[in-house]
Amino acid sequence: MSDSPAPVLRAERLVRTHHGEGAPAHAVRGVDLRVRRGEFVAITGPSGAGKSTLLHLLGGLQRPDSGSLWLDGECTDAYSEARWAVERRKRIGIVFQFFNLVSNLSVADNVELPALLAGVSPRHARAEREELLAELGLTGKERSMPGELSGGEQQRVALARALVNHPPLLLADEPAGSLDSKGTREVMRLLTRFHLRGQTIVLVTHDARLASAADRVISFFDGRIADDAVLDGVPPRGTGTSGVLELRD
Ligand SMILES: Nc1ncnc2c1ncn2[C@@H]1O[C@H](COP(=O)(O)OP(=O)(O)OP(=O)(O)O)[C@@H](O)[C@H]1O
Ligand SMILES: [Mg+2]
Repeated sequence: MSDSPAPVLRAERLVRTHHGEGAPAHAVRGVDLRVRRGEFVAITGPSGAGKSTLLHLLGGLQRPDSGSLWLDGECTDAYSEARWAVERRKRIGIVFQFFNLVSNLSVADNVELPALLAGVSPRHARAEREELLAELGLTGKERSMPGELSGGEQQRVALARALVNHPPLLLADEPAGSLDSKGTREVMRLLTRFHLRGQTIVLVTHDARLASAADRVISFFDGRIADDAVLDGVPPRGTGTSGVLELRD
């Protein structure tokens, strides 16, 4: 046993099968994963590989069929939906693949909502919102409705909303999914800035450029981790992942 602190996130043998109209989809087929504090992990892989399903499991938005998940060393297996909602407000910021902004709330209200739900005073929520929107280049858009924004602007609002409670962990699913290269660069710059401040990030992306901003890249294929590579040559201590490949140049 090492005496390093518990990983922010630890998953053991996570399995999730979707039962829809068609044949069952074995989206996640046994995933072991540890993410240390301050790590920036990119998860890449083909469409349908199970990346979004994995992220939903990590954020408690879906429950695994089997396997276990720990947040900051605390086992979440017995968490109720209500408990998960509280933990998400406090500990996890999530950017969904398709934004999920509340369409009939203004940009300002979308960003402030999670802070208000977490019990922050309206004055403080407003101050946080102003700071984040300024940092994301969205000053002046506060009163706009999501439908009046470009895809890239909506994406940045979603990011602001995910970060407003200063969550120790940010889970982001294709945060540059529909963006052009300028928008992708903006998101990349932003994530890098938060990462440099110590933000732990797990990012799902198809985009190799975006993945290159991370310090660890996991290739997800057919519901499993096919490869787990540390890009900066510093192996993550105590991650326990097998087959860690170090890319040094
Ligand atoms: N709610 C659902 N009901 C039934 N099947 C689902 C559901 N959600 C996902 N699936 C199936 O599970 C598999 C994994 O889907 P998932 O959305 O996790 O993939 P992904 O890697 O995020 O893909 P993409 O890159 O296209 O976003 C796919 O075969 C998909 O069709
Ligand atoms: Mg997806």
